[in-house]
Amino acid sequence: MKAKIITIKDETPILTGLKKLCQRHVYSFHALPVSSHGKSDIVDDIPDLFNTCMENSATGEMFDNFFFPKGIISESQKLTSKLYNSDSSFYITGGTSVANQIAITALYKKGDCILIDKNCHQSVHFHSQSIGAQVEYLCPDLQNEDGQISAWSFNHLKNKMLAKQEDGKGYDILILTAQSYEGLIYDIPEILTRLLAAGVATRKIFIDEAWGSLNYFSNDTRPFTAMNIENLLCNYPDLEVICTHSAHKSLFCLRQASLIHCRGKDELPKKIETAKYRIHTTSPNYPILASLDISQAQMTRHGNELASYSRQLVNEFIERISQNPWLGKESVIQDISSEHWHIHSDPTKIMINVSKLGSALDINNQLIQKRIYIKRVINNNLLLNFHIGINREAVNSLISALEQLCETATTTDISEQITSDKFIIPYPPGVPIVFPGEIISYEIQKKIDELKRSGLLIIAA
Ligand SMILES: Cc1ncc(COP(=O)(O)O)c(C=O)c1O
Repeated sequence: MKAKIITIKDETPILTGLKKLCQRHVYSFHALPVSSHGKSDIVDDIPDLFNTCMENSATGEMFDNFFFPKGIISESQKLTSKLYNSDSSFYITGGTSVANQIAITALYKKGDCILIDKNCHQSVHFHSQSIGAQVEYLCPDLQNEDGQISAWSFNHLKNKMLAKQEDGKGYDILILTAQSYEGLIYDIPEILTRLLAAGVATRKIFIDEAWGSLNYFSNDTRPFTAMNIENLLCNYPDLEVICTHSAHKSLFCLRQASLIHCRGKDELPKKIETAKYRIHTTSPNYPILASLDISQAQMTRHGNELASYSRQLVNEFIERISQNPWLGKESVIQDISSEHWHIHSDPTKIMINVSKLGSALDINNQLIQKRIYIKRVINNNLLLNFHIGINREAVNSLISALEQLCETATTTDISEQITSDKFIIPYPPGVPIVFPGEIISYEIQKKIDELKRSGLLIIAA
């Protein structure tokens, strides 16, 4: 597939409304000097940032009401709701930490007991504590080899929920993080289906899908998303399911652009609206709001194409890394969990093992010098997120930076190789691994280091 340039058409009610409002050059006697057409008679050095920034203090009659919208905001939220298969969707301009607080508040009733996945974001833990909820934790019982990525097994979750019911009332709310930064995706519809079929009585579910907006736009991930629960709702009409998305993490949105979606009982949207009114700042950020609107239009038109292109770039990247003699196919880790039916790997996130080039932290620092930013290093691996802002130029730059590091490693390797004039003998067992006259290659040096670390005595004689 060839990348083609996509332009956003005018299907953006908020953006259009905001542009019109700004063009009206309103003299605001309300607030927000940066948005006032009057400018200042005293200072003329107003930074460009403010001149170009689409902010305005007008609400209701000139724009729409952020909390109880009836006009352009409501129109745009409905388009978003259609896109994500929700009953209702809500725009949040205070980040997903705030969205999570709103979701929990909407579901929570005094005295409720909540089961929380321990891997949930801090916003879930802090808020549950501050509302005085009775909280119990679902501790991860699965982890990868090096213990850096953890998850919970379905049976562990099911047994914990059923055991609590046997003891008395059961959990009123279940809170899970469904899509992790490292690329774990839980199959939420199937998990809920099996929990309910097993007799779990909990009906209020909150799923943090902060990293998962893009997963709604590809057939390989959409079935695992929290809003794709038609069948479940037919069988359990008393369900209330909320999920949150950090739109800015995976879509073309400004930071703190966040979404709340819900499905289930008729009164749920009203409960979210009220919780939003109580918790959200009363000064919503208009540029962020406009970015959510732009993103809804963009993803309606091109979401599937963007998701598919990200996957294409991942595949091209893997192919080129596989051809690299230093890194090779074995350095690519794409499938972080293939053993459990309820956990899948996000195809847009991969890890590259760079141990052949040096320590991953060191490689990461060198990549920063080459203008490549990788947020997370896990042991010997660099975690790469191929979000929709990654283009071919970025991939080419990453590959060429890695190639340069490979060359440096090779040169260093050759220049630093030394010819041993001694036997090098690990003890026990006392069998030489280097003989006089032999070259101590990079691999042998690594082996010697490993043996030393494992406690063996290394004798050069
Ligand atoms: C799983 C998860 N939920 C919620 C949040 C909070 O999002 P925000 O930083 O937009 O408040 C994060 C942030 O990284 C996250 O990873």
